[in-house]
Amino acid sequence: MDFKQYHQPVLVQPLLNHFNLANDSIVFDGTMGFAGHAEAILSEYPSIRYIGFDKDLAAISIAKQRCARFSNVQIINAPFSSMFQHVNNVSVLPTHILLDLGVSSFQIDQSNRGFTFQKNEPLDMRMDTNANLTANQVLHDYSHDALVELFETQGDIRGPQKLVEKIISNRQKNKLQTTFDLVDCVKYGFFVRSRRQFIAMCTKVFQAIRIEVNGEMNELKEFLDHMLKYSGVIVAIITFQPNEDKYLKAFIKDHGLIRITKKPLQSSYQECKKNPRERTAKLRIFQIQ
Ligand SMILES: C[S@@+](CC[C@H](N)C(=O)[O-])C[C@H]1O[C@@H](n2cnc3c(N)ncnc32)[C@H](O)[C@@H]1O
Repeated sequence: MDFKQYHQPVLVQPLLNHFNLANDSIVFDGTMGFAGHAEAILSEYPSIRYIGFDKDLAAISIAKQRCARFSNVQIINAPFSSMFQHVNNVSVLPTHILLDLGVSSFQIDQSNRGFTFQKNEPLDMRMDTNANLTANQVLHDYSHDALVELFETQGDIRGPQKLVEKIISNRQKNKLQTTFDLVDCVKYGFFVRSRRQFIAMCTKVFQAIRIEVNGEMNELKEFLDHMLKYSGVIVAIITFQPNEDKYLKAFIKDHGLIRITKKPLQSSYQECKKNPRERTAKLRIFQIQ
């Protein structure tokens, strides 16, 4: 199987350059995904102990195949906010932690779970398909004000009122079941000058709902709070959204964590051209005091 076809990991070389790994490191990878970073790390440091976590069973199944040739890899189906609860089960403490936030290209393009506005799919958006909350429920059950707040805070969208009115009117007529139904609401909800602007709006709207469905901001906040107890551990976090990076930057400063990368590392123009996911990716590496 060509794993790269499903998901190209971002910022691999900057991560390898600045993560300060050694052959006896113990890595907890909170977002194992398709094991792209895992494979890159293990290929360079084959004796590292590698413990991966992912909410998505489909991702875990692929990651297991990809890592089958390494004997020191263990993968756990759990949210990364709970990774420290597994320390006893795996009998080791991490020396390094990696988080590559958000969804994988596979989840967007091929999971049929409504992460993309490019295909007509059910409004699901769950990374963990056993979780309760779906995008459909958010769009049908949240009040007008709750939806406005969601789009403003999670999606960084200014003036989402018209969009929310359309969502509410369409849901009352039972016309909000698929991703294309939601795209219709976006068409009505904003005045855009170009196809590019329209795609940018769709991206923000879909992202805001996905973040809500998967509790992504809370996951990050919970992880960071628990992490503080593990002094000496080196942590690398790749974010794709300004909100997440802003929160992380402030957290590192407020808690006096040691910045290994003084500024966030970003991909070159050439890399962004090859892999569009690189465009918004920012990597921060720091050490817990
Ligand atoms: C961007 S992909 C990671 C890709 C991976 N680094 C690679 O190179 O293949 C993010 C993955 O993290 C998982 N994920 C996102 N949030 C999570 C969370 N809070 N807990 C566990 N897994 C999570 C998603 O299901 C997805 O598989």
